[in-house]
Amino acid sequence: MATVKIVYGSTTGATEAAAQQLAALLGAEAIPVAAADAGSFEADLLLLGSSTWGYGELQDDWASGIALLDAVDLTGRKVAVFGTGDSVGFADTFANALGILADKAVERGATLVGQVPADGYAAKDSLAVRDGRFVGLALDDTNEAEQTPGRLAAWAEQLRAAL
Ligand SMILES: Cc1cc2nc3c(=O)[nH]c(=O)nc-3n(C[C@H](O)[C@H](O)[C@H](O)COP(=O)(O)O)c2cc1C
Repeated sequence: MATVKIVYGSTTGATEAAAQQLAALLGAEAIPVAAADAGSFEADLLLLGSSTWGYGELQDDWASGIALLDAVDLTGRKVAVFGTGDSVGFADTFANALGILADKAVERGATLVGQVPADGYAAKDSLAVRDGRFVGLALDDTNEAEQTPGRLAAWAEQLRAAL
């Protein structure tokens, strides 16, 4: 059976909740990035999650995670990224962290899967939007919490098809 792992960083619990729901939907292991080691990134499908903080930056715990990723070869691995943000309060940097994680994964040799059309989102001016698509699953529990369960379920289906 294909292994799926989720490594995530979350300050107030929103991305953690998403990670746990994805873990249940995909039969995956969810690992807080602060507790990750190099082996945490070894999977057939690897999900990387981060909320966006500061002004368009990765969640703090990812500082150690990026150092780990810099030493990991993701060649031939499928990687998908997800995270929560605030598309009203931070319209220009909404879910930027997804873009940062996606770029890092590709730099380490991964194939990115799980891109999502930006049509359903108000904020499209983000580092995480490329050619009209978010590089992964952007969630906004601040303004669009009612959409989160449906977005998670649809994305899990999309990822299952990519496996
Ligand atoms: C000081 C501060 C800065 C933030 N900066 C951004 C940002 O640049 N882009 C964004 O999309 N969300 C931003 N947010 C919103 C958070 O990403 C959002 O609340 C998220 O759900 C937190 O997820 P977490 O609980 O998993 O850390 C910011 C929130 C705060 C309080």
